[in-house]
Amino acid sequence: MSDTPSPDLDALIAVRLSRRGLIRGAGAAALAAGLGPVPTLAAEPSAFDFPELAATVDEHLHVAEGYEARVLLRWGDPLFPDVPAFDPTAQTPEAQEQRFGYNNDFVGFIPLEGDPNRGLLVVNHEYTNAELMFPGLGASDRKGVIAALSAEQVAIEMAAHGGSVVEIRYDNGRWAPVIGSNFTRRITANTPMTLTGPAAGHPRLATAADPEGRRVEGMINNCSGGVTPWGTWLSGEENIHYYFQGTLPEGHPETGNGKTMGMGSPQYTWGRFHERFDLSKNPNEPNRFGWVVEIDPFDPASTPRKRTALGRFKHEGAAGVTAGDGRYVVYLGDDERFQHVYRFVSAKAVGATRAANSTLLDSGTLSVARFEADGTGRWLPLTHGQGGLDAANGFSSQADVLIETRRAAKLLGGTPMDRPEDIEASPKTGRVYVMLTNNTKRTPEQVDAANPRAANAFGHVIEITPDGADHTAQTFRWEVLVRCGDPAKPEVKATFSPLTSSDGWFGMPDNCAFDASGRLWIATDGNNRRATGRADGIWAVETDGPRRGTSKHFLQVPVGAEMCGPCFTPDDRTFFVAVQHPGEPDEEGGLGSYEKPSTRWPDFSADMPPRPSVVAVTRKGGGRIG
Ligand code: FEO
Ligand code: CA
Ligand code: CA
Ligand code: CA
Repeated sequence: MSDTPSPDLDALIAVRLSRRGLIRGAGAAALAAGLGPVPTLAAEPSAFDFPELAATVDEHLHVAEGYEARVLLRWGDPLFPDVPAFDPTAQTPEAQEQRFGYNNDFVGFIPLEGDPNRGLLVVNHEYTNAELMFPGLGASDRKGVIAALSAEQVAIEMAAHGGSVVEIRYDNGRWAPVIGSNFTRRITANTPMTLTGPAAGHPRLATAADPEGRRVEGMINNCSGGVTPWGTWLSGEENIHYYFQGTLPEGHPETGNGKTMGMGSPQYTWGRFHERFDLSKNPNEPNRFGWVVEIDPFDPASTPRKRTALGRFKHEGAAGVTAGDGRYVVYLGDDERFQHVYRFVSAKAVGATRAANSTLLDSGTLSVARFEADGTGRWLPLTHGQGGLDAANGFSSQADVLIETRRAAKLLGGTPMDRPEDIEASPKTGRVYVMLTNNTKRTPEQVDAANPRAANAFGHVIEITPDGADHTAQTFRWEVLVRCGDPAKPEVKATFSPLTSSDGWFGMPDNCAFDASGRLWIATDGNNRRATGRADGIWAVETDGPRRGTSKHFLQVPVGAEMCGPCFTPDDRTFFVAVQHPGEPDEEGGLGSYEKPSTRWPDFSADMPPRPSVVAVTRKGGGRIG
């Protein structure tokens, strides 16, 4: 893709919109001219029947009228028998290993066969906010907070990371965790895992503690993920650079790799107590993180596997779909400014059982997306020996390509995007939706058709249509579904349908989920009073028909929180959402504190800090959500 902006980008996009038979361009123009919505559009029935929720910011969680939102699992809740109720002033690492972890992000629901009222909830615990977890740390800067942490508090942080497997049951009109279930598991930053696939055992993954380069302790910063048709949980390691302190020895061969992954800006201080997080002592340790981890939630004794075939970068999610020929396709976003959209296609078809798929994700083709200005696109395979991924460019094997996926993707000409987050395929249409959260660093010179706004503060959503309706095809067509932000401000250049209300628009799309009927629900991260005059939450977005691009507000999180983990039960009667980091200040970059959080949701008790929680949303009186 050329680095120069297309002179007629808006015209080009308008042409593609009209090609779809939409009159949205005209509608937007009419709205901008103060003429109001186009009446023929307003008569079209909405795909969503809930009454829209007002968009505000306050200390509470709100859901559309007619729905109930019940807290299902809170940070600190006991998961095992005989664990006492949570007391934030009596935390220990051992106790945290028995309790629900911090900052729930991805949520997956895996039904237990034969009983619609039982299932396994798999939940990522992405990171910790020490200043909100522990009393007395004060609201100084991050450096001050982490310098004040004791070895024991660091161990609690490590135990609060990772993930949880929790059996839940629907009984007496509500979901509840099954304490004492044989499936219950906490995974932490210390859980033994194996590296599998083409990079496993490579010398660049070897450390003093693991000379074979195959065994890792723990997973960190697991953001979003996916659930496979064979019942495993895929979990993406994202901002792994925050955990490594110290500097590489002068002239160390991993210096460039470390720079590409952002090493040198630690947000944690684990390296003070654990040498593996100190780059000066363990230069290869970061290469053992930044992978997609596959976990079998049906066997708590199973060893999680870091699937190196899916590449190493700042993985957001790992939502997949089975292609027409039976191969498994995983769409992957690398959440950083100017990073890429990826796709993995397994070499073999999905087998009938979990056991038959135990190595499915170890061989296949990883590709990076290139978006052309004419609305076409192509998947460029990251295969050693092809396209310059060879020894001359520092790639001596497929392991090198996978360990340095970002560098390989740039070399091939993948399109640098505005922070790719969740990517999911519609189960109904097969079209694929890419959440691009924002990129305020994009300059006017760096604008391209797929990233059409400079200083993109509010993000956008791209729709990919695989050619031949085949998820393994090398080529696709694409268009921008919606540019986010306030449509009433012409300078924002948002493109929600004019039927979208002043509560209905949003900024910073992050996670997404489809319900069983193929309707798109988007969760956001970064809305606040100053940026958008609204808290983060869930918006339902129409993708088809004349109302395409219309968005409607369904749920709002408490101040300071972001919205994660949207996930439906297969019958669409329960919608699980994850409220992450409630109690942070209502602005970017600030620090809250245990003593003075911006909210004490969900307990609202003076002696309890805010608690990240998973919430189950149901319709009053039962029935399909929305
Ligand atoms: Fe953890 Fe990209 O959000
Ligand atoms: Ca995210
Ligand atoms: Ca998702
Ligand atoms: Ca996020």
